[in-house]
Amino acid sequence: MNSNPKPNYDLIVIGGGAAGLMCTSLAAKRGKKVLLIDHNAKPGRKIIISGGGRCNFTNLNIQPDRYISQNPRFCISALKRYTQHDFIKLVKSHGLTYNEKTLGQLFCDQKSPAILAMLQEECRSDDVTMQYQCEISYVHKLSSGFEVKTSSGTVTSSKIVIASGGLSMPKIGATNFAYNIAKQFNLSLIPTQPGLVPLTLSGDKLDLAISLAGTALDCNVFLDKKTSFRENMLFTHRGLSGPAILQISSYWRESQEVFFNFLPDQNPETFLQDLRKNNPKETLGQVLKPLLPKKFIALFLCPPEKAIAQLSKKELAQINDRLFRCAIIPSGTEGYRTAEVTLGGLDTKELSSKTMEVKQVPGLYFIGEAVDVTGWLGGYNFQWAWSSAAACAESL
Ligand code: FDA
Repeated sequence: MNSNPKPNYDLIVIGGGAAGLMCTSLAAKRGKKVLLIDHNAKPGRKIIISGGGRCNFTNLNIQPDRYISQNPRFCISALKRYTQHDFIKLVKSHGLTYNEKTLGQLFCDQKSPAILAMLQEECRSDDVTMQYQCEISYVHKLSSGFEVKTSSGTVTSSKIVIASGGLSMPKIGATNFAYNIAKQFNLSLIPTQPGLVPLTLSGDKLDLAISLAGTALDCNVFLDKKTSFRENMLFTHRGLSGPAILQISSYWRESQEVFFNFLPDQNPETFLQDLRKNNPKETLGQVLKPLLPKKFIALFLCPPEKAIAQLSKKELAQINDRLFRCAIIPSGTEGYRTAEVTLGGLDTKELSSKTMEVKQVPGLYFIGEAVDVTGWLGGYNFQWAWSSAAACAESL
């Protein structure tokens, strides 16, 4: 090789997912010559399956405290500089429309492929080369810039962006590429674990979940006073799922109890006393019928057949616990196979929060899910992908 070769590209972006596509488009708009590499045959496979095919592309209520990280302040700068409103503007500028489902979650009316097409359209430029089905065998730091050996040849660039995501859903292309690069450059990693993932049960609890599979209910799920989510939960053949469970799963640690309040709109202090006063002759099963699914009442709560007035204090206390503070210890999670995200990843202390550049390795950047920043369910993770990509691109 020439001793002072001109790099083929200003920038190589590894990973054509949400963060990689966004970074590529913004870098090209800044006049950079970009090569985007992905080992999949097509880009954005997670975008396509996201939000049940309708891509929950952001959330109106983006706030740093809805992200999990060893350094909760790390995401603030990027989220502030490229906001949900910036992405909404981009969506609108492509003639796409959206609707708010619940809790500020925005979904694309034209479905997920339209969001992917929009990002691809944004990347369209003479300065952008996309290489798919391309395997990377190594990344080397040169005295100036980087050399990347791929199944399509060896290329060089001044800068390199790692946007290869986390470990969730290996079936659609997730790999540990980002973590291997981190190790190669002696960068610290926060241990990973599946997030936004269904919880599994075993024994009697699993038998019960199987009997109730398909039953959904609105509840408040909590680990402690600070960590609680009011959303739907769903019984499945493996255990528990639904938005409330996915949310709590990102905070749950092995062997920890998860608590459920199945009547989140009722006052636990007065609910049963009021029933005793107002419906003394009815059974608990009868009065709960308008509030909870019939099958759930029968199988999970197993209310005594007696009239409410005849229930002992002990029975009432037990029922109160089961309704408002039911404790379950899940046996585990469904793992990366079904997890929507990966918790942990590249330690944020290695990065500049302004640019996503590795402090010790100028020219090397990490963005998106590869970094130890994980959002709640509801558009928060895509917003992190957009915002971290924009922070990076702005500094190139
Ligand atoms: P992403 O995983 O999107 O992209 C990484 C890219 O790198 C992939 O294209 C992959 O092929 C490529 N790659 C990996 N290893 C490589 C290697 N060795 N060589 C070359 N290329 C490599 N979030 C949200 O906000 N709203 C939602 O509606 C949903 N819905 C949703 C549904 C499902 C089923 C899942 C699994 C996830 C979601 N998410 C979500 C989460 C969201 O999809 C996720 O946070 C972002 O896609 C992360 O973007 P990245 O670009 O960082 O990684």
